[in-house]
Amino acid sequence: MNILFVTSEAYPLIKTGGLADVSGSLPLALQELGHDVSLLLPAYSTVMDRVDNYEVVGKTRHYEHDIRLLESKLAGSAVRLLLVDCPAAFDRPGNPYVDAAGQPWADNAYRFALFNQVAVDVAMNRLGMDWPVDLVHCNDWQAGLVPPLLSLFASHPASVFTIHNLAYMGLYDKQIFFELGLPAEIWHLAGVEFHDLFSFIKGGLSYADCVNTVSPQYAMEIQTPTFGYGLEGLLQHRADRLSGIMNGIDQQTWDPASDDNLVQNFDRDNLEKKTKNKLDLQKRYDLKKAKKIPLIGFIGRLVEQKGLDMIIDAMPELTELPLQMLFLGSGEKHYEQALLSLAEQYPESVVVVIGYDEELSHQIEAGCDMFLMPSLFEPCGLNQLYSLAYATIPLVTPVGGLVDSVVDHSAQTMQDGSATGFILESLDGPGLVQAIKRALAVYAEPEQWQQLQLNGMKQDFSWQTSAEQYVELYEKAIALNAG
Ligand code: ADP
Ligand code: GLC
Repeated sequence: MNILFVTSEAYPLIKTGGLADVSGSLPLALQELGHDVSLLLPAYSTVMDRVDNYEVVGKTRHYEHDIRLLESKLAGSAVRLLLVDCPAAFDRPGNPYVDAAGQPWADNAYRFALFNQVAVDVAMNRLGMDWPVDLVHCNDWQAGLVPPLLSLFASHPASVFTIHNLAYMGLYDKQIFFELGLPAEIWHLAGVEFHDLFSFIKGGLSYADCVNTVSPQYAMEIQTPTFGYGLEGLLQHRADRLSGIMNGIDQQTWDPASDDNLVQNFDRDNLEKKTKNKLDLQKRYDLKKAKKIPLIGFIGRLVEQKGLDMIIDAMPELTELPLQMLFLGSGEKHYEQALLSLAEQYPESVVVVIGYDEELSHQIEAGCDMFLMPSLFEPCGLNQLYSLAYATIPLVTPVGGLVDSVVDHSAQTMQDGSATGFILESLDGPGLVQAIKRALAVYAEPEQWQQLQLNGMKQDFSWQTSAEQYVELYEKAIALNAG
């Protein structure tokens, strides 16, 4: 199969969250299964700084801009990298979606509409590349217009749309839809119109041959009002086309036995070596150096989704407990401020690092005893998977991919060897405190704790299994498109 994978971020070229991790690994896993994959990405300046060799393989024009299509390879792989080079849209510093003040770029609708138009050019084989596409795999709202635009051609490749996060919809004024010269045929309730607004994500949800999310549980949750944001009706209507495929993890990048970001590598046969990573973090961040004080880590975008209000609420009680906490994140300024003040208030137990730091994220996964991820919703979540691989026990809420990947500790799950972490009973401060207390009680029993760690480490989160499920989904989409 020739697969065009359309995404707005891909590790290691540009990353703001888990979408980049997925886009940097799933194409490789598909390639290993024998498929021919091209990854289409905007040529942001950060990406261009990281790409050495490229060729111009096509030219097109949209929104009064000449656009070049550049071809390279995704580092260390045979995956073809196609870059949409339009400096007016993508040659700007920093983040793909927001400016230095954290505000969405004012012209995002136009930037990503342009990106989608080029995706359609490639999908329809109109740029002279001689690469007939069988299936277009669109990811999140930034690729949401591809399925509706394809639908306007009598014959076109099949499409799959993956929801990595339904909370980000790409919603704009109706007027923008018409300013972008988009075809009126797709402006209706079963198209991209959402309460008189223009919704990129609805394009993907309504027109793709198949839709999936990144965990089975989230696929069910988004069909309910709590998690569906008004799109639950449409998702229920398309239930026979909707499924969930759990993300995998990139085992080259996330393996404690070979991770060169760590001061000390370890594996399941020498777990005791993990402690050196903890002592290093304690020393570096002026925490009391002690093997026995549990260190709890948090890494993530500082947004409401990640359960920060719960954490902030619980902090006075948590700081009474014998533990240390290390936060790494960046995002909404009020959360950054709130965390920094907690670190100031409780210097002996709370450390906060504001910023984006790949290396430190690996060191936290390796050095902490527990990983805190009390998300309000979580389409899949990757950090709890990294934690399991790094013998760092996850403490999670019972939502989305978290509940699909972590098994709560209990007498029974310990006995049958399935326990891997702790699941909060209620999504609030008291629920968090209670889960941490349960975890501390088990931490005090080293043999039990080690059992939990080993149970987690033996889980299989390789991409191969997920990639095989994607191939099945692509085949289904192709059959539906042909029929
Ligand atoms: P989401 O995609 O919602 O942000 P995921 O758990 O799927 O959540 O993926 C987040 C990814 O981004 C992980 O690889 C995580 O390590 C990384 N990440 C998030 N914030 C930071 C940060 N401040 N520094 C380094 N890595 C981060
Ligand atoms: C999103 C979700 C996260 C998921 C990631 C990759 O950003 O918030 O749960 O793991 O996409 O699919």
